[in-house]
Amino acid sequence: MTPERAPTVSQLLAFYLEAGVDCALADAPVNRLADPDLTPVASEAAPPRPVRTAAPPPAARAEPAQAPEAAILSAREAARTAPTLEALRALLEDFDGCALRSTATRLVFSDGNPQARIMFVGEAPGREEDLEGLPFVGRSGKLLDRMIAAIGLDRGSAYIANVIPWRPPGNRTPTPQETQICLPFIQRQIELVNPDVLVTLGNPSTQTLLSTREGIMKTRGRWLDYDTGTRVIRALATFHPAYLLRSPSYKRLAWQDLRAIAKALAPGASSSS
Ligand code: URA
Repeated sequence: MTPERAPTVSQLLAFYLEAGVDCALADAPVNRLADPDLTPVASEAAPPRPVRTAAPPPAARAEPAQAPEAAILSAREAARTAPTLEALRALLEDFDGCALRSTATRLVFSDGNPQARIMFVGEAPGREEDLEGLPFVGRSGKLLDRMIAAIGLDRGSAYIANVIPWRPPGNRTPTPQETQICLPFIQRQIELVNPDVLVTLGNPSTQTLLSTREGIMKTRGRWLDYDTGTRVIRALATFHPAYLLRSPSYKRLAWQDLRAIAKALAPGASSSS
């Protein structure tokens, strides 16, 4: 039998990129099959395995310092105590309960004006955001800028953040635990910005913040209440700009949502629509 030719380096790189791998977590590869935690129970006939004493380098394992339940509790405790947005950002910079922090390049906290009357919340940063440390600066960010401009505003008069402040590796979907760990921080951020209108962008942000299981097709364009605990803020879900880039025919509905938002922000608008 003719042996198969080994793949070239460029074929391997193409394979990894297609599989969503676009960053290295450590300089050296880690043989996870040699991880003692993963070693199956040795059969009686097998010779004893050598005991591995050296711990793997910390960067090689994207594991949080705490178990998820403990991390959720400490996130709630920490976020609650942040008196200002600066303090909240500093807390997040130091928070080691979410494994995403160790794979991301940097924290992506927010952009825009903390005094804005409107706050937009997306899901999680992507590659460009991770490199720049600002939310929505890539392709979907350019479309978000145009959406904001459509209601006569810009980043100087709007505030932008994400539910998850660190990029998930390869832009994978954040796990439910990661979302629950990050939730107290975005909740506190909303409370501190205290906008008149909260806009959730896309399904994950809408379902997480507005506590609904319904999909974006049903939730978009409907005014809902977001209760910070001290105040009820009017909230409206609309399509995520990345979705609009893939499905431009929904821009018509997004435009209707933007008009409803502009109306709610107009001077003299009533507090319910
Ligand atoms: N998508 C998001 O949800 N947030 C960003 O910051 C960028 C893309």
